[in-house]
Amino acid sequence: MNTRRAFLRFLAASPLYAGLGYFGRSYAQTPGSPVDEGLIARADDALDVFDFESVAHRNIPPAHWGYLISGVDGEDTLRANRAAYSHYQLQARRMVDVSKVDTSLELFGTRFNSPLILCPIGAQKAFHPEGEIAVAKAARAKGHLQILSTVTSTGVEDVIAARGAPVWFQLYTTSNLDVAAKLVKRAEAAGCPAVAVTVDLPAGRNIETALRFARTDTRTCTACHAPSGSALFSRPMFAQLDTEGLQITSSSLTWDFIKRLRDVTRMKILIKGLESGQDASLAVAHGADGIIVSNHGGRATDTGRGTLECLPDISAAVRGRVPIILDGGVRRGTDVVKALALGATAVGIGRPYIWGLGAYGQPGVDRVLELLNRELMLAMVGVGARNLREITRASIIRPA
Ligand SMILES: Cc1cc2nc3c(=O)[nH]c(=O)nc-3n(C[C@H](O)[C@H](O)[C@H](O)COP(=O)(O)O)c2cc1C
Repeated sequence: MNTRRAFLRFLAASPLYAGLGYFGRSYAQTPGSPVDEGLIARADDALDVFDFESVAHRNIPPAHWGYLISGVDGEDTLRANRAAYSHYQLQARRMVDVSKVDTSLELFGTRFNSPLILCPIGAQKAFHPEGEIAVAKAARAKGHLQILSTVTSTGVEDVIAARGAPVWFQLYTTSNLDVAAKLVKRAEAAGCPAVAVTVDLPAGRNIETALRFARTDTRTCTACHAPSGSALFSRPMFAQLDTEGLQITSSSLTWDFIKRLRDVTRMKILIKGLESGQDASLAVAHGADGIIVSNHGGRATDTGRGTLECLPDISAAVRGRVPIILDGGVRRGTDVVKALALGATAVGIGRPYIWGLGAYGQPGVDRVLELLNRELMLAMVGVGARNLREITRASIIRPA
């Protein structure tokens, strides 16, 4: 093998390369082109979640790829989400009987095989024709919680049928309370036991990378955009709703929204998109049943602060009263241990399972979950934790 080939193969397989994302190489979609060298040929060949990123990049059209990878503004937060994990180290423990390790978790009375949750990601048919259905089947096969986006490309009823169990519903409140109530009632009627209200996008955002990629994409994408009107409101959850003049979120939303939601649903209510202890206290005081520490995967405010860095303040404020889910930059089993050690009850993943989906459909998502669960199990063995409760603050160190 010549040197250039060997280098490309090394680069394509390296997490460093994956971390560089798009900017680490030139874009090419032609099968057999040099960037194909070193890419895994099937889902089972993946050794870590990053192996799927390059295959998904090859498969997904440029505008959709740009949408997936984009952060906001200069993407400081996107990078900080990932970097935060390197600020902590695991504390290895030995001579503990770790012959049985239990990664299962109970949330609101339901047991899942793993604390890894599939975060809401809109319009998943943009990444693979089977979209949310393929993800639901993988969640079913591996026993994971799936949270379905308001802007899903498949209706909640069909996703629950494919999951074979309830999923949670993520709510974009829209600018109209009546529409929000109808969305929530539909999700509840379909069987969702919980709604996660996303509050981190009150007034638009600047997804520069997505816009740059969209400029390079000349396709007419009727698969996920209606020929006329707003793409968002042509999605299945808005069928038969009056979307005239509607915004997807509201810039006047305040804490009393939780009470309003309580009046229309019996579902558990979680608030998604909190980054401060103060807001976490307010959420609990206003009756939230859970908190999702999230900056939308670096796509909300470009604070430059990773979610893991926000977690200690939030868990101190919550004091165990409600479950805390954290997402943003989770790519390794060791990341899960670090988040749980800092007070998270569970963690969410976004882009990694979409890499699996975009690369190979359901088998890709299956393998992403399998890899992360195995890494988690090994990390738990390494810190001497036989179950999730045994992951404590003493399981990690923050060097001075
Ligand atoms: C392409 C894309 C679409 C997303 N769509 C939604 C959505 O519809 N609703 C929502 O609450 N969060 C959405 N998110 C945020 C995710 O739920 C989650 O917070 C984030 O992806 C976690 O970070 P990670 O991608 O680094 O794992 C989206 C994220 C991405 C990357």
